[in-house]
Amino acid sequence: MLAKDNNASFYSNMPLDIFMGFAEKIGLAEGEDIDQIYEEIKDSSLLIEFGSGYGRVIEALQTKKFQGKVVGVERVHELAELLKQKAGNNVTIVEDDLCYLDWHKEKADTILWMWSGILELTPEDQENVIKKAYNMLVDGGRLIIECPFNDSISKVGMLSNDKKIVVKEAWGVLDATLVETKDIENYSSNAGFSSHSLRKYVTTTNLTRAIYTLIK
Ligand SMILES: C[S@@+](CC[C@H](N)C(=O)[O-])C[C@H]1O[C@@H](n2cnc3c(N)ncnc32)[C@H](O)[C@@H]1O
Repeated sequence: MLAKDNNASFYSNMPLDIFMGFAEKIGLAEGEDIDQIYEEIKDSSLLIEFGSGYGRVIEALQTKKFQGKVVGVERVHELAELLKQKAGNNVTIVEDDLCYLDWHKEKADTILWMWSGILELTPEDQENVIKKAYNMLVDGGRLIIECPFNDSISKVGMLSNDKKIVVKEAWGVLDATLVETKDIENYSSNAGFSSHSLRKYVTTTNLTRAIYTLIK
């Protein structure tokens, strides 16, 4: 495994039903976040998803009969294997770490980084991966980031001092760093995106979450 932190083992050791249960707790289990953005992404010919997990987003796209190609990038071997088993005709799974990913293939119209995936990286890596996403997009393409709105985090994590979140479970510990609107503004302009916007929404379990859209 190419991971450079311990968060990968949190996912490889987490029982699948518990992973899916977290999606229920947050109120995203039925692809509610994808409902929010589908109109703007539906015509993408290539959509890349960062950190595909157990396939929640890919399944939501398939339910909506998304016609474009989908590439899911996931670093946890067990999850990448599960995603490969479930992948339909237009889905390709790449087992890799976003921090090391070296993408020289077709540029994407849309990159999705949903359900707080960005929080699992250090601030330095958050910025580097956003710069990488910029280079993976066509001109006019969009990077969509979904995460808690500022510090409205769920009971799944505990906010300690500053912006660190530590999720301690029987099978492991996940270290995360909260991302706020001003961080996204900085990352976006440092990467060269031409604009960024924020949409807030409330999940089915009453959490306020953010969807940031960065346009190249
Ligand atoms: C909270 S889950 C979200 C899963 C999926 N995006 C969704 O919305 O349902 C975060 C996922 O990102 C993956 N991930 C975290 N850091 C990663 C990295 N550096 N490279 C690739 N995948 C990563 C984790 O293994 C996990 O599957």
